[in-house]
Amino acid sequence: METWSLDSYTSYILPFLSLLLIVLWMVYRKESNTWTLQNCPVDLTGKTAVVTGANSGIGKAVCYELARRGAHVVLGCRNLTQGRKALEDIQKATGNKNLLLRELDLSSVASIRRFSQKLLVEEPHIHLLVNNAGICGLPYKTITSDGLELTFMTNYLGHFLLTNLLLEGLLSADSARVVNVTSFRHKYGIVDEQHLVGAGSPLLPQQCYDSTKLLLVLFTKELAQRLQGTGVTVNSVEPGIVKTGIMKNYTWLYRSIFCILSVFLKTAAQGAIPVLYLSLAEELHGISGKYFNSKCNLSLPVESARDPGVAHSLWNTSARLINLEKMIKKK
Ligand SMILES: NC(=O)c1ccc[n+]([C@@H]2O[C@H](COP(=O)([O-])OP(=O)(O)OC[C@H]3O[C@@H](n4cnc5c(N)ncnc54)[C@H](OP(=O)(O)O)[C@@H]3O)[C@@H](O)[C@H]2O)c1
Repeated sequence: METWSLDSYTSYILPFLSLLLIVLWMVYRKESNTWTLQNCPVDLTGKTAVVTGANSGIGKAVCYELARRGAHVVLGCRNLTQGRKALEDIQKATGNKNLLLRELDLSSVASIRRFSQKLLVEEPHIHLLVNNAGICGLPYKTITSDGLELTFMTNYLGHFLLTNLLLEGLLSADSARVVNVTSFRHKYGIVDEQHLVGAGSPLLPQQCYDSTKLLLVLFTKELAQRLQGTGVTVNSVEPGIVKTGIMKNYTWLYRSIFCILSVFLKTAAQGAIPVLYLSLAEELHGISGKYFNSKCNLSLPVESARDPGVAHSLWNTSARLINLEKMIKKK
């Protein structure tokens, strides 16, 4: 019988590990963006930007860059302690004193309404809305007090409601952009409107996340259609694979693997670049309803995200589930 010696270890395992590292390095290099912040001269003085999930990860990095360019940035956070910390960090690093922290829990209809009502009084003109907040790894069929599925509500339906409630502010700016942060994982998602209320076909936690990101791409398409000719554009973007707290709801095994691989992943600042590209780039003026990949390239989302009939039907179901018409009237 063959014995496992140091020799066989070095002759098999080390070459395998080296190969793995080379592949990961190549993936990392492939993830590099083609657009750079240094080549974008856009100044945001006098502009108002709203970012959801602004206290950590990509959202915080986006806020930092917007603040650095002089924007009045509104940080929408569910955790005010963490939000305050982020605001102080950004203020200290950029010297921008024009930052505002507001409580926003995207899993709650009441919180989204409170946030929007207050914001429209304080900020009648909104030039940029970055729908960034997201969760993943939670079991499907976690139902909120509004009777909606938690991951679907946080990642998709909450942003659907928020955007609609802030539309008045976006439309009253000379021109405005909505940026929806989705994921390359949208291509593994399923469209089933019953998922919004925790019914329909069962989903694993990852499939649940993937499906919410697919719905966000469909929402982008339908909203762009509805906003044609208004000066408000909406696009979706995938940031790439980024080392942030997004895996916090997964088991320790998944988190450990993510942590080991994290040296090959983008930093939050790198992951923010595609989102900032959609928010800032002058060449995107007037471009709407599109999907961009993590290299800032215009790209085609999966086929199921391109069906206008599906996008239209999803809009109607979403509007019915959250009583959109009544909400807008009550505003
Ligand atoms: N990291 C990646 O590899 C990756 C890849 C593709 C797409 N994305 C997307 O990028 C976006 C940002 O994620 P990230 O990677 O930066 O992760 P992150 O650091 O965990 O940021 C997620 C943000 O969303 C907030 N959030 C979660 N639930 C919320 C709720 N109910 N109401 C309001 N805010 C809520 C979190 O707040 P708390 O701190 O209070 O939880 C946090 O600020 C997400 O949409 C994610 O799906 C990330």
